[in-house]
Amino acid sequence: MTTQTIPFINHSEQNQIEIVDFYNEATEDYKFWSNDYNMHFGYFIPFKTNPFKRDSMLNEMNAQVLKRLNIGSKKNRLIDLGCGMGATMRHALKHYKNVIAYGVTLSNFQVKQGNELLNGKNGIILKENYNDTSFQSNSFNSAVAIESLCHSGHNYKSLREAYRILKPGGRLVIADAFLKRDRNDLCKGGTYAYHNLCNHWNLEKLEPYYYIKAQLEDLGFKTIKIEDASFKVAPSVLHVPFAITGFILKKVLRLKGLKKESLHNLKGSFYALLSGLHLKSLGYYIISATK
Ligand SMILES: C[S@@+](CC[C@H](N)C(=O)[O-])C[C@H]1O[C@@H](n2cnc3c(N)ncnc32)[C@H](O)[C@@H]1O
Repeated sequence: MTTQTIPFINHSEQNQIEIVDFYNEATEDYKFWSNDYNMHFGYFIPFKTNPFKRDSMLNEMNAQVLKRLNIGSKKNRLIDLGCGMGATMRHALKHYKNVIAYGVTLSNFQVKQGNELLNGKNGIILKENYNDTSFQSNSFNSAVAIESLCHSGHNYKSLREAYRILKPGGRLVIADAFLKRDRNDLCKGGTYAYHNLCNHWNLEKLEPYYYIKAQLEDLGFKTIKIEDASFKVAPSVLHVPFAITGFILKKVLRLKGLKKESLHNLKGSFYALLSGLHLKSLGYYIISATK
């Protein structure tokens, strides 16, 4: 399917159509990034994670996010807002036997293939918009969003929906790239990297981390903690050029052409690397809060 500009729909709706196309076509490329289909960057801990083994860092990101949910030993209903292929859900189900995991995504490909990977496990992926789900209010103990809320431009609506579906006392943990200053105050190089990153990965926009903190406070979230994880994430970002080169070589050797969406995705990865170098403009944060 090709992405077309459809008249009479707004920018957000057009962006959503592009997200669906992008993930329906490019998700399988992520197998090259991660055996476990982690569609995010990793978390490096010296002497614990091997910086040369990407999946060990990617799974450590799952572990770090889940740790901040304070899951405990009672039954825990967890929702992954923008779950991709369900890698974080599978990690949670493997390490916390009391978890029941739900994931939402816009991509049909991810619903079908992700649910196959969850076969026999206590989890399910549904095709739902995380800005407006069909779940009852106060129904989850835990919510995670890894590199997904950026697609809606770190929208207030996404945080409001997370607040609505969490039970009082429930925890939200977000891991994502955020701006370090207002968009208009980025340096020239930072602006270039930021705009290209958004264009190539279909991110509506990114907000500064302090904007998210203010929105979470406004919604009534408590114990908000903002952690700059940029240096923990950097070793996995440095894998990007090698992963891209390997991916292209594999395609060339198999005489396979590159899909438009794959190329878009690869360029996006390159701009993620470039954005990562603009330490004063962009950073990677883990934000946790309690309802
Ligand atoms: C970069 S992937 C990250 C996937 C997963 N969190 C991970 O770390 O492996 C972004 C995900 O967000 C999902 N997404 C983007 N916008 C969404 C929306 N409005 N509602 C639900 N899912 C959305 C995409 O479908 C995709 O699964």
